[in-house]
Amino acid sequence: MEMRAALSLVIFMVFVRPILFPASGAKETSARPPAILIFGDSIVDTGNNNDVLTVVKCNFPPYGKDFVGHKATGRFSNGKIPSDLIASQIGIKEYVPAYLGIELSAYDLITGVSFASGGSGFDPLTSQLVSAISMDEQLNLFKEYKEKVKAIVGEKKAEYLTCNSAYLVVTGTDDLVNTYFTTPFRRFQFDLLSYINFTVQSASTFIQKLYHLGARKINVVGVPPIGCLPSQRTLAGGIERRCDPTYNKAAIAFNSQLSKETQRLTNSLPKSMIQYVDTYTPLLDIILNASIYGFTESNRGCCGTGTLEVTLTCNSLTTVTCEDASKFVFWDSYHLTERAYEILITKLIQRYGTFMD
Ligand SMILES: *[C@@H]1O[C@H](CO)[C@@H](O)[C@H](O)[C@H]1NC(C)=O
Ligand SMILES: *[C@@H]1O[C@H](CO)[C@@H](O)[C@H](O)[C@H]1NC(C)=O
Repeated sequence: MEMRAALSLVIFMVFVRPILFPASGAKETSARPPAILIFGDSIVDTGNNNDVLTVVKCNFPPYGKDFVGHKATGRFSNGKIPSDLIASQIGIKEYVPAYLGIELSAYDLITGVSFASGGSGFDPLTSQLVSAISMDEQLNLFKEYKEKVKAIVGEKKAEYLTCNSAYLVVTGTDDLVNTYFTTPFRRFQFDLLSYINFTVQSASTFIQKLYHLGARKINVVGVPPIGCLPSQRTLAGGIERRCDPTYNKAAIAFNSQLSKETQRLTNSLPKSMIQYVDTYTPLLDIILNASIYGFTESNRGCCGTGTLEVTLTCNSLTTVTCEDASKFVFWDSYHLTERAYEILITKLIQRYGTFMD
């Protein structure tokens, strides 16, 4: 144990000090956030659900087929997911560990973790329906995380880290696709636009809580063109498996409200920078122009037959997995392949820089 702690400290001093405390005048190094902290759903969950009693998990083959050692880590894809790809493209680290389930080193902690949980959403009912870790519970984990970091680096440096880290909030898809369109509960209460309003209010409350815990640079990622997910094409796209316009319009309306709300929060919360990140436009481009990007298949997942294979139903016993996932935009009927995520993240970095300004 002591050996391990000592080693972590050495790693910390050698690799992290220059990032945390750039020499004065070294402007270019200070543009890189010292850590990345991630909240949300399966798009950015790097394994938090592995030990949670939920059906939304994927720590079995063929998930992880193209990951290091072909390991199914609980990442919802064949390889790396946006958490890893963003952290590595902005120069923090190669992989972002899940906060739960594995022993984390001091280095792991102070360079950032993911609190995200597959199946979660801004609407509290969304995580409840599948026993995922709710957004509020993710904030509780963040509080616990902050104490751990304080114990490692001391109060002052911990404050510096909290204030200067890049925060990423990626959820909302399950609110629309699962909770609103699939289950009846919310449709009894709300028409679509009122539900979107309710969900965006809930997103706003989450962002404000995160701000009050010390976060300043918060990137809030909008929802993708959900009408073009293979699952929705199967349900509503007819024999040609077209994108479903109703679902896509819902995504556009949600994004528009979320974007307005982030602007309003930036203006009202002192020293905050709350940035809406549009994934709808670049992802629609990748899906509809798939061949330009070298994909041969964009309307069904690599894992499965194109119907409803997600997690439990995309496993090595029940479905076939394509030979070469890099030819597919979608990995299963819901999540992208590593290669599609990589193209998407490259586009986002081109547009939003290091997610810091
Ligand atoms: C959203 O809800 C709030 C509070 O319930 C209400 O004041 C506002 O007018 C609603 N906005 C829209 C666009 O429906
Ligand atoms: C597809 O690519 C063309 C050419 O680059 C571009 O004009 C068009 O906007 C793209 N489609 C989408 C949906 O982005």
